[in-house]
Amino acid sequence: MLKVGVLVSGGGTNLQAILDNIESGYINNAKIVTVISSNPEAYALKRAEKYGINAVCIKKKDFSDEESFLNAMEKHLDSFGVELIVLAGFMTVLGKSFTEKYKNKIINIHPALIPSFCGDGFYGLKVHEEALKKGVKVTGATVHFVNEETDGGPIILQKAVEVQDDDTPEILQKRVMEQAEWKIFPEAVKLISEGKIVVEGNKVRRLL
Ligand code: GRF
Repeated sequence: MLKVGVLVSGGGTNLQAILDNIESGYINNAKIVTVISSNPEAYALKRAEKYGINAVCIKKKDFSDEESFLNAMEKHLDSFGVELIVLAGFMTVLGKSFTEKYKNKIINIHPALIPSFCGDGFYGLKVHEEALKKGVKVTGATVHFVNEETDGGPIILQKAVEVQDDDTPEILQKRVMEQAEWKIFPEAVKLISEGKIVVEGNKVRRLL
């Protein structure tokens, strides 16, 4: 069983999608052992508690410097034996020492087709606002490994979603979640837990 730690900051619908897919048996070789939130009010923490999963808040602001924050994160994750770190709407940037320590062991979901609408400043509704401003006809979501570059690590899965003429950022965000994020994030966890993902440089190969 792959031990998974999920890092969140908000509503936690992506966390829920993973929980649902564990419950249904679609993911059968992974379990969530801890959920860490950067925000004490995050509804994601409540979702974790409902499943009896360890749920804590560790926020950067409570530490004197980045190093002690990252040490606390590492200590917590290691104490639960976490083997895969899932960033499910986690709004705190994790430093290079962290991404290097857990190289190819951290995955993130981004609500666009990387390399479009990604990088510093592209988070939340902003991503969808920019996609609509540009007038793209197709957007989507990307699951990727996390390295020191924002949204820059090897791409694991992507799924396209059509943009409709009268979309607002909110409507588009919802469609991208429903049609792409909640599908490919659990799928990536499943594939990794089954050892079906191999990273070769900046490319991911999927074993059959
Ligand atoms: C999602 O749109 C995800 O793509 C982005 O942050 C949002 C998190 O939503 N990284 P939720 O907390 O999983 O509902």
